Amino acid sequence: MLAGIMGNEVEGEMTDFDRMVAELQLQIIQQEEALYSARVLEEARRPRNLGRMVEPDTYAVVRGWCGDTMEIYLRLNGQRVQEATFLTDGCGPSVACGSRLTVMTQGMTLEETEAIRAEDLIAALDGLPEEHIHCADLAVSTLQNAIVNWCAAHKT
Ligand code: FES
Repeated sequence: MLAGIMGNEVEGEMTDFDRMVAELQLQIIQQEEALYSARVLEEARRPRNLGRMVEPDTYAVVRGWCGDTMEIYLRLNGQRVQEATFLTDGCGPSVACGSRLTVMTQGMTLEETEAIRAEDLIAALDGLPEEHIHCADLAVSTLQNAIVNWCAAHKT
């Protein structure tokens, strides 16, 4: 059966190259599933609230020590987060962190939002590998900077 699908002479069947790509993709998926929780994979593959916000009430951009950048935008309704979005040029886990964090903050007061710690985000993602803990730190510190920026702009 394998011999029947090897080679690229049969129209509509997999070529050697197609088969190699499919096997590589399968290996990558298996490696990802071994490393990351289902929640991290879901958030990284289908992120919520991805993109810059037009005319946010506040935002922050922070570059992590890894060199990656996280942007977080907030639209407020009084002291509550009405909408939050993010953008990152970072790794898959940073996308998952931005996605989950922006979902978590919606409807929260600024005080509640400010109290979110990286551990809370990691728990909400059902864990992160040790080497990606800093991705959660980056997302949370970006959110906190956005709140600091709002407070600074609204000091009386
Ligand atoms: Fe830089 Fe994840 S944010 S490696």
